[in-house]
Amino acid sequence: MNMVLLGPPGAGKGTQAKVLAKELNIPHISTGDMLRDTVSKGTPLGKKAKEYMVKGELVPDGLVIEIVKETLKGAGMERGFILDGFPRTLEQAKMLHETFSKLSKKLDLVLYFKTSLDTSVTRLSGRRVCKNCGGNFHIKNIPPKEEGKCDHCGGGLYHRKDDEEATVKRRWSVYAKKTEPLISYYKDEGNLREVSGDLDVDELNKILIALFHKENLV
Ligand code: AP5
Repeated sequence: MNMVLLGPPGAGKGTQAKVLAKELNIPHISTGDMLRDTVSKGTPLGKKAKEYMVKGELVPDGLVIEIVKETLKGAGMERGFILDGFPRTLEQAKMLHETFSKLSKKLDLVLYFKTSLDTSVTRLSGRRVCKNCGGNFHIKNIPPKEEGKCDHCGGGLYHRKDDEEATVKRRWSVYAKKTEPLISYYKDEGNLREVSGDLDVDELNKILIALFHKENLV
């Protein structure tokens, strides 16, 4: 199954994608994670991407599209994949459509996580990420067993720079302008399904698994 997770910052796309990737045994492709990895390596592409990411702006389409194209062509994508945070602009959606046509693939499902700004700000202000393995925690909702330490690998946890409240608000306004138009784009294509991103992780996961069965996708 090939699916896209769409929704504002803090909707829980990454958290749910990790759970679903294990349950369905398909790769989780997060453009946010790939870009952060490039930034941490300090490559010219990483330096360029960082300028946009710290301000809460989108990285230019050209840079992101190239990264995604290469990933989709790579090994391990045969049984399907979960795209998290891509596409985020109409330009990216058009590129995805073209790439799918060339690779004889189709987009089965776009899951739109409708989420309130309050939920997002609460989640992002409390999010802590592992420096080592990228594990995601929340100081109240999903706390690590030991404060400041990753449950999976023992790595140190940090607060993302773009999770500060002013930058989260900027990310929301960029989302409203550039990404929200994708909701009607995919509604018109007929493969968009709306779920509530405000639900807790397990509750939402159950709803999604039921949806996949109902649509004969698993
Ligand atoms: P990216 O990393 O993709 O950020 P985002 O889409 O804003 O998503 P987030 O990671 O903030 O939220 P999420 O919905 O994944 O929530 P999560 O599960 O982590 O992108 C970062 C930047 O990279 C962008 O601003 C842009 O600059 C650039 N970029 C990336 N893709 C791009 C593209 N395609 N084009 C151009 N630029 C691009 O959860 C958040 C917190 O809440 C966590 O602490 C988690 O533990 C907790 N939580 C999650 N779900 C629940 C729940 N159900 N209940 C309670 N707590 C929960």
